[in-house]
This record gives sequence, C-alpha cells and structure tokens, in this order.
Amino acid sequence: MINDLWLIGIGTGSLTHLTHEGLQALRDASVILVPRKGTGKDDLADIRLKLISQAQTNAEIIFFEYPTRDPSLPYIERVAAWHREIALRWQAALEGQNIAGPVALLIWGDPSLYDSTMRIAGYLSPRPKLRVIPGVTSLQALTAAHAIPFNTVNGNVLITTGRRLRDEGWPAGSETVIVMLDGEASFQHLTEPNLHIWWGAYLGMQEQIIDAGPLPEVAQRIAQTRAAAREAHGWIMDTYLLRKGGETPG
Ligand SMILES: C[S@@+](CC[C@H](N)C(=O)[O-])C[C@H]1O[C@@H](n2cnc3c(N)ncnc32)[C@H](O)[C@@H]1O
Repeated sequence: MINDLWLIGIGTGSLTHLTHEGLQALRDASVILVPRKGTGKDDLADIRLKLISQAQTNAEIIFFEYPTRDPSLPYIERVAAWHREIALRWQAALEGQNIAGPVALLIWGDPSLYDSTMRIAGYLSPRPKLRVIPGVTSLQALTAAHAIPFNTVNGNVLITTGRRLRDEGWPAGSETVIVMLDGEASFQHLTEPNLHIWWGAYLGMQEQIIDAGPLPEVAQRIAQTRAAAREAHGWIMDTYLLRKGGETPG
C-alpha cells in the first residue's frame, strides 16, 4: 500500500536540473520506483539512475515494467486501461515490501506538463497522499537554449501536440504556439504566413541541438536534422515554439 507518493520533477536530461528540493526528496524517500522502459531510450533510463546515485539515498530502488497499450481499444479507453495497468504494476512491484515512508517516482521535466503520473496515481486504491516537486520543463529548456521569452508583451501562448497541429492546423487567434509530442515534424505542413520557429532536440542534454529561423526558410533543414539525429541516436525528443509576426513582434 502506498500512503505517500512523491512525484519528483527531474528536468529534461541534465543532471544539473534536479532542484535542491528534488534532491532532498530522493534522499528522504523510502522507495524509488523506476521504470524499465525497454524502448531503446537507454540514455533516459541512465539519467534516472545517475540522479539516484548522485542523491546518495538510502531509499530502496524497485523496478517495474511498463505494460504495452492494447491497440484494439479506442484511444481514450486504451489510455485509461494503460494507466490502470501501470498503477497495478506499481502495486505489484511493492507487494510484500515493508514500506515505512514515502514512495517516489522521478518524472521527466515537470509532473504537470503532458505527463500522466498524477492520473495514474488516481487509480491506486486507497488513494495515496500526493506530493509534487516541480521540475524544469522541456519548454523552459527550449526558451532558455534560444534565449527567448515565451510570450510577447501582453501576448498569449498556446501549448499543443503535434497530432493536433496536424489535424487542426494553426490554432485560430494564436500568436505563440508551442508544440510537444510531435513525431512527424508537423511544422512542415503549416501554411500560416509569417511564422518564425525556434526548435530544439535533446534539450538540456549533451546531445542538444537547436535551430531557428523563418519557417519557410528553415522547415526542411530542421526536418532533415531531426531525421538524421533520430537515426543516429535511435530516439529523439524535440519541441518547438512558433510565433506569428516574425522574430521580434513585441
Ligand atoms: C510526455 S512529454 C513530457 C514533458 C515533460 N513532462 C516536460 O515537463 O517537459 C514528452 C515531450 O516533451 C518534450 N521533451 C521532453 N524532454 C525533451 C528534451 N530534452 N528536449 C526536447 N523536447 C523534450 C518532447 O516534445 C516530448 O515529445
């Protein structure tokens, strides 16, 4: 049974992103649950283990396997079933353990941004007490790498996914749009005029790559860089900010 569940934001791949609060939480936890991903993203698993070893914690490290999603189910049901199954795997991994204190999970970036761990925790019975420790998001890593602000003066910002950008096109009324979870370089198909892009992959990591420019001029170059990097590493995580009105609208 998990009484206290701590979700520790670890940033986006640099050992230096972990906050003092996150480090202390790793030290204070009784158990740290670590996924064995088996997706070929070994670099990411490595970073989690390095952070744990850097924390010099006495917490017990317990591994769990991610289930696979059932492709026969409709999308929403498939995701819910997957979340439920992950919660069961946490419980199974902890079965028979004498858990004296908090159980911690290391969450990529920040636990609140395109991450389902809080939703998965909702399937635990009884519901544990949640503590969330914020982390540097990939979006902050992106704007910092390019030394740009998120928003223009008094401007709005919309965060969306590659799938929605592909399906719905440029979001009406938006000035700044940030795109995550885009496996298909969907910026290539935008027809909205006067867009500037700031793109980054492996942000915060040694392999970090960034590029920027007026979208029609750089879209192909970025797509090629992305494809080559993905081929070289076997995986890629990238995100980008698109702004209407050119490089410095305000
Ligand atoms: C499941 S979401 C997790 C986001 C994470 N919770 C955060 O705070 O950034 C994964 C997406 O985040 C972005 N991402 C995460 N880490 C990244 C990195 N180091 N470089 C570029 N993009 C990254 C990518 O768009 C990726 O598809």
